Amino acid sequence: MTTGKVWMVAALIGAAVITVPFIIEAPRQREARQIALGQSVYASNCAQCHGKQLQGQPDWQTPLANGRLPAPPHDASGHTWHHSDEVIFNVTRNGLKPYAGESYESDMPAFTGTLKDDEIRAVVEFIKSTWPERERDYQQQMTLQQGN
Ligand code: HEC
Repeated sequence: MTTGKVWMVAALIGAAVITVPFIIEAPRQREARQIALGQSVYASNCAQCHGKQLQGQPDWQTPLANGRLPAPPHDASGHTWHHSDEVIFNVTRNGLKPYAGESYESDMPAFTGTLKDDEIRAVVEFIKSTWPERERDYQQQMTLQQGN
């Protein structure tokens, strides 16, 4: 290799050393921004029922006097992490009727019209970001298999 070539290679390596961290960091920053958006969407639209700490309503498995179910937790003690991304997104966007039938009575609102799809995706990512590794891994499998 001539001295000129050596310098060229050195310059290319130098450029890569400087550029690669930016390329790796950009998606992480996008993810952090999305989760921050999801957290604020959650606080204004979901926390009043599902709890500030995602803890759900008390005795969430026991139907209320009107026969409807209380809001379940979205933390690891609930069952949200049993569902794929798609199901969590769809339930939030369209409510439970598409899954449970037109006559199903529920306090879970459909957020289509209230929230943009990006905001719903962000709130799903925020909820996921609060789970321990085991629940995250399980839910990732469900998402890959497009399960319920
Ligand atoms: C007015 C109260 C209320 C608000 C506000 C509310 N929910 Fe719900 N949600 C419920 C109730 C009640 C259920 C259980 C309904 C049932 O099973 O009949 C539920 C169920 C769900 C489920 C399915 C159950 C599960 O654990 O997988 C998801 C997902 C969900 N809500 C997400 C959200 C998100 C995200 C928001 C905010 C954008 C939100 N909800 C806002 C009351 C609410």
